[in-house]
Amino acid sequence: MNAAAVPRTPAAPARVPAGPVVVARDVTRVYEIRHGAFRERARLQAVGGVSFTLDAGRTLAVVGESGCGKSTLARVVSLLEAPTSGALALAGVDVVRAAPGARAALRKSVQMVFQNPYGSLNPRKKIGAILEAPLEINTTLAQAERAERAKAMLARVGLRPEHYVRYPHMFSGGQRQRIAIARALMLSPALVVADEPVSALDVSVQAQVLNLMADLQDELGLAYLFISHDLGVVRHIADEVLVMYLGLAMEQGPVGSIFARPLHPYTQALLASVPAMAGAARARREPLKGELPSPLNPPAGCVFSTRCPHAQARCQAERPAARAVEGRQVACHFAETITPARP
Ligand SMILES: Nc1ncnc2c1ncn2[C@@H]1O[C@H](COP(=O)(O)OP(=O)(O)OP(=O)(O)O)[C@@H](O)[C@H]1O
Ligand SMILES: [Mg+2]
Repeated sequence: MNAAAVPRTPAAPARVPAGPVVVARDVTRVYEIRHGAFRERARLQAVGGVSFTLDAGRTLAVVGESGCGKSTLARVVSLLEAPTSGALALAGVDVVRAAPGARAALRKSVQMVFQNPYGSLNPRKKIGAILEAPLEINTTLAQAERAERAKAMLARVGLRPEHYVRYPHMFSGGQRQRIAIARALMLSPALVVADEPVSALDVSVQAQVLNLMADLQDELGLAYLFISHDLGVVRHIADEVLVMYLGLAMEQGPVGSIFARPLHPYTQALLASVPAMAGAARARREPLKGELPSPLNPPAGCVFSTRCPHAQARCQAERPAARAVEGRQVACHFAETITPARP
């Protein structure tokens, strides 16, 4: 959409940092859990060393099967949980070593939008109060100024002034997600982490909310970390994609080239499972077989080796490091032999 056609509102512009909005290096998140009949202690590595850089105005999508660590990564990047190891910087500030004051400022610079627009809004509060709460807690703005900003934000996300005095239950799912997005933007974050933001919505409404997110990104220079299991949605909204399996990055890079020509067998299998995306090469790509291994006991070597149609002895013995192939990172020993370069 043409950004110039969108009415400018008095809400503050996003703080657009000069460097990348997010730099993650080998970020891990391990949960100490108890499991089994004897409640034994175990280590569950939900995220096993993920690296990426995300710039202002760009969208990184994280995809992969249920349990691969998408939401855990989202919580770590949102500062809701600390990484177990690795380095994470938001707007150039190391979040692990930041002083408490700096961390409070960082918390404002990253906001989350969740999947369930029914559960994430307090049913007893009017929309105006929901939008003003972040300003009340984090700024010294007077009530009149807070109300003005909340009303401006309502307009910006495509809602009407009278919605200010309504309660969440009076809205449709799509409208509630607009409210959740509006709330996330009240403190002018540089980064929005959206965990399956449209998965609970009807397809037609999904497109409207995705378009709104794209318009807001253009206007405000927002960076998005966008979690989704829907590859059609990802192709529509993302610039880059990170494909995860059992907490590890299998393939990551530009969404266009990866979706057109996936090089990791796991990415190939994921795309093959979506008929509309499998394309001409569909016959070559085998959909996923077999069970997802337990994250408590991941396979030795390549974690995907137990389900990979191309696995060889080396794959069971040696975990492949991510390496650059055809303009993206691929963690597969045999990417080039599985998908030979075109002559
Ligand atoms: N608080 C927690 N304590 C213990 N284990 C956890 C916790 N949160 C997540 N896990 C485990 O970490 C792994 C990754 O979970 P996560 O929720 O990040 O996956 P996901 O990719 O978001 O899945 P889905 O697509 O179902 O939302 C899973 O094995 C999950 O059971
Ligand atoms: Mg999740």
